[in-house]
Amino acid sequence: MSGASNDASHIPADELTKAQAEAELERLAAEISHHDALYYAKDAPEISDADYDALRRRNEAIEARFPELVRPDSPSGRVGAAPSEQFAKVTHTVPMLSLGNAFSDEEVCEFVERVRRFFKKGEADNARFVAEPKIDGLSVSLRYEKGELLLGATRGDGMTGENVTANVRTISDIPGRLAGDNVPDVFEVRGEVFMTHADFAELNAAREAAGKQTYVNPRNTAAGSLRQLDASVTAARKLHFFAYAWGEASALPADTQMGVIEAMGAWGFPVNPLTRLCSGIEEMLAAHREMEAVRAGLGYDIDGVVYKVNRLDLQERLGFVSRAPRWAIAHKFPAEKATTVLKDIEIQVGRTGALTPVAKLAPVTVGGVVVRNATLHNEDEIARKDVRKGDTVVIQRAGDVIPQVLSVVMERRPRDTKPFEFPKQCPACGSHAVREVNPKTGKEDVVRRCTGGLICPAQAVERLKHFVSRNAFDIEGLGAKQIEAFYEEGRVRRPDDIFKLEARNARDRKPLQEKEGWGEQSVKNLFAAIDARRTLPLDRFIYALGIRHVGETTARLLAKSYGAIEALRAAMVAAGDHESAEYAELNAIDGIGQVVADALVEFFGEPHNIEVLDALLAEVTPQPFVVEETNSPVTGKTVVFTGSLERLSRSEAKVMAERYGAKVAGSVSAKTDYVVAGEAAGSKLKKAQELGVRVLSEEEWLALVGEG
Ligand code: IVH
Repeated sequence: MSGASNDASHIPADELTKAQAEAELERLAAEISHHDALYYAKDAPEISDADYDALRRRNEAIEARFPELVRPDSPSGRVGAAPSEQFAKVTHTVPMLSLGNAFSDEEVCEFVERVRRFFKKGEADNARFVAEPKIDGLSVSLRYEKGELLLGATRGDGMTGENVTANVRTISDIPGRLAGDNVPDVFEVRGEVFMTHADFAELNAAREAAGKQTYVNPRNTAAGSLRQLDASVTAARKLHFFAYAWGEASALPADTQMGVIEAMGAWGFPVNPLTRLCSGIEEMLAAHREMEAVRAGLGYDIDGVVYKVNRLDLQERLGFVSRAPRWAIAHKFPAEKATTVLKDIEIQVGRTGALTPVAKLAPVTVGGVVVRNATLHNEDEIARKDVRKGDTVVIQRAGDVIPQVLSVVMERRPRDTKPFEFPKQCPACGSHAVREVNPKTGKEDVVRRCTGGLICPAQAVERLKHFVSRNAFDIEGLGAKQIEAFYEEGRVRRPDDIFKLEARNARDRKPLQEKEGWGEQSVKNLFAAIDARRTLPLDRFIYALGIRHVGETTARLLAKSYGAIEALRAAMVAAGDHESAEYAELNAIDGIGQVVADALVEFFGEPHNIEVLDALLAEVTPQPFVVEETNSPVTGKTVVFTGSLERLSRSEAKVMAERYGAKVAGSVSAKTDYVVAGEAAGSKLKKAQELGVRVLSEEEWLALVGEG
């Protein structure tokens, strides 16, 4: 970046002459602002945080020696070094959720069926759905009080986002004041910020002419443009907005999805003109075809169609699963395809020992993104498609899923290729890799697994990566790259080591801050980020343990059912005895099947896992799971539904019980508090009577929770 002749960048700060210092401050101001722009505008930094810190530290050191040389545009005048700390955090009062996906017409039919079945007796047979384009931008929440825009926030992780109020005010599609008189006191409008193809092309042309790096796609550019610290930069970018949802609202302007969209339109928001009200599956799929047909000519990116149940009362009753509503789904457009050369097949070892073949590709652009790797799924798939090194292959990328190799272009196969031989040994630790045989079906598993278990470094590293991942401990500054390096250097071998890093570093002869790529500030930030995770929600903690088959949903279920880590652990250890009450209870939890139950028992039955868990609990305190609705008479109670109910379908009964803080179990035990018995209740009712469990009719249950 700097000229060769008067380059003083290699001279230590305390040896610089005044003239050199002046030149250096000029260079650093330009360089830091260049990296700021890359980071914020493009969300694509060129250098590591540590190198960036080093630039800033050097700038500060020189300024400290020559205060009279401090430039008016000095980077030290701008606050904070860690970029993510520069926007204030905003907690969403109503979480910003994501959507489930459908990739085929059949999956849309299943969605419609699921919605109808959720209700009793054809109640929702005529339910209508709104079809809206799924805009490929970034979602924001805009809070209006008494019609005035007060707060604009990004989605973030759905619970907490960033305060970007100054930036959203520069977007002309977003009104500063809502039009009309019947505006609720509080209303959070939600929708998508995006950039058009034309504005994206114009911006890139200008950057190219100015010798600047160009942007990758409109979506990333819109995201980067909104996350500018300097709102005048956002203002210079032409961003647009469509409203399609809402968060907290003191009152709603209508009782249907379509009605609220129309009201938001009347208040001054752009709403998408392709939005359609559909009477059934045929019309929904027709809307999908229509949008796909006009997609290329829209001038902005859409990546599918979102269907939403129109009646808001039905939406409310349907509620949510994990992070997505039951009342909506995204029907994605077909995946984009490309052809490229497969250079190599690499075998990756996952945290549970699964050997996954990954195709290393000659880079190719698919749907605006450069793809270098694609999954080959497993051994059988490679054999079935006869994929070989050197082949030309067709790859496909759909939305956010991992690109995959679809097929081989046989006409382009080079002469000397050989069929791929899948290794029978783990590439990381050399242990045997085997395909387990399912005892029930007698069939071989499609996945080949390393049998090295705890001695396999690849599994250990992957478990650690999972441990710090976004939905687990989510430690800022400690990602996959750092975990690999720390493992290699012996700094972190087990999860608890992460929390001992700071203390050990203080005694280390080669402390982290002296390592290439790290500095005082970045190390300090890392330790602060680690400390911030010494408490975290129980469900995240359980998920972080990386127990086979225990994803986020199961982790939440376990957190809810057992309440505290000690209780979970004691129960799982006891459940090692399959005859125990604990094992029966575990299997009785609605949503936990035998595969999951056995994986849990196996995990807690392994002494090494218990040792690591203990060591971790000496450092970290998971917060006991608290049920949100605490003032209900069924909070914390366990209920079993049996027989056929009159007013509620089984699904709605379960969702309703959970909304009031009850746990729903699939079988009756001494720990059951209530059995709600409908028509033709059989063995469960009998068991309840034997055990003296309180039996309620459907009406009594509804009256108990206050829905009678
Ligand atoms: S509704 C509770 N409608 O898709 C439902 N989302 O995959 C909240 N998106 O984070 C989302 N167009 O960024 C909804 N018409 C639309 C949308 C849309 C784009 C995005 C949004 C959301 C993501 C979920």
